[in-house]
Amino acid sequence: MPKRITLIPGDGIGPEVTAATVQLLEAAGADLEWEEVEAGLEVVSKYGKPLPDQVLESIRKNKVALKGPLTTAVATGFPSANVELRQSLKLYASLRPVTNVPGIESRFGDVDVIIVRENTEGLYSGLEQTITAGVTQSLKIITREASARIAHFAFEYANKWNRKKVTTAHKANILKVSDGLFLKTCQEVAREYPDILHEEIIVDNLALQLVINPQQFDVLLTTNLYGDIVSDLCAGLVGGLGLVPGANIGKEYAVFEAVHGSAPDIAGKNKANPLAVFFSSLLMLEYLHMEDTAKRIRKAIYRVTNKGAVLTPDLGGSASTTEFTEAVIQELE
Ligand code: NAI
Repeated sequence: MPKRITLIPGDGIGPEVTAATVQLLEAAGADLEWEEVEAGLEVVSKYGKPLPDQVLESIRKNKVALKGPLTTAVATGFPSANVELRQSLKLYASLRPVTNVPGIESRFGDVDVIIVRENTEGLYSGLEQTITAGVTQSLKIITREASARIAHFAFEYANKWNRKKVTTAHKANILKVSDGLFLKTCQEVAREYPDILHEEIIVDNLALQLVINPQQFDVLLTTNLYGDIVSDLCAGLVGGLGLVPGANIGKEYAVFEAVHGSAPDIAGKNKANPLAVFFSSLLMLEYLHMEDTAKRIRKAIYRVTNKGAVLTPDLGGSASTTEFTEAVIQELE
């Protein structure tokens, strides 16, 4: 029986890059079938909201989803459907491996950072209000429970993948109570893993260190907002947002998606880089214990990137999404 996956094409470049991914996985013979559901800003007029109930129902049934980006209006409109999805399904860990892709020129080589971002609370708790005209408030929620859960996730990940160091990034010098609790909890959890080095860094210094010497970092553990910002920064180290995959993982469900957004500036032009979703789908195959298929696809991708002849414009090439996808399929063994 093929494994059924919820497919959310999403907004902007989402339908292009997810369709390319399905085409690649099918060409590779991955034993999957797809249940497609609509979500995003573009379907609000149809369903009255960006995250229709059937999306959550489908993921609850299938347990695993591959997702394109969803647009969130800036400073107005609906709360983020991405945040709602992660909170509703308790996808507490956002995992974002940032590594160089063979053949792709970038500012730094030998980058191999795993970002582990708390995905359910912090400043993304959605608790905001205008107290009186010109005075607003956003609540940053940090709990011991969620902090311990994400810290365990980071250390367990490090253990499993033979990583040597976890660095907790925080701003506990200023946010002594909330980030203070996050940091203290991470320190407590770290003591349970004496074989893994635990370091701490204030998040502004992290930004500096990442653009000077990113190779010093191994697993980065941090809160929701810092993790979001640092993910884009790290993508810039290795060649851009078109390359970095992500996984949102909870106890029961997992949703795989790129770090990038809906890229409205290039949507519908067949020039988006599908690699970030390709790599996200490989994380999904590994999660589903389909490692062999993941390995074959990764090999085919690396052959194409190493040759460098067929690349999308963000990587300095002139190939379309479709041409790049076909080039990878040609290299499948
Ligand atoms: P973005 O990631 O969509 O785009 C930033 C820049 O990177 C743009 O110049 C874009 O063209 C480029 N880019 C992104 N992905 C690319 C790809 N695959 N290939 C080539 N170039 C690529 O970020 P932005 O503009 O801040 O956000 C646009 C919308 O996406 C917003 O509504 C935001 O809320 C949403 N968003 C959704 C996410 C999700 O669904 N997980 C994550 C991040 C943003």
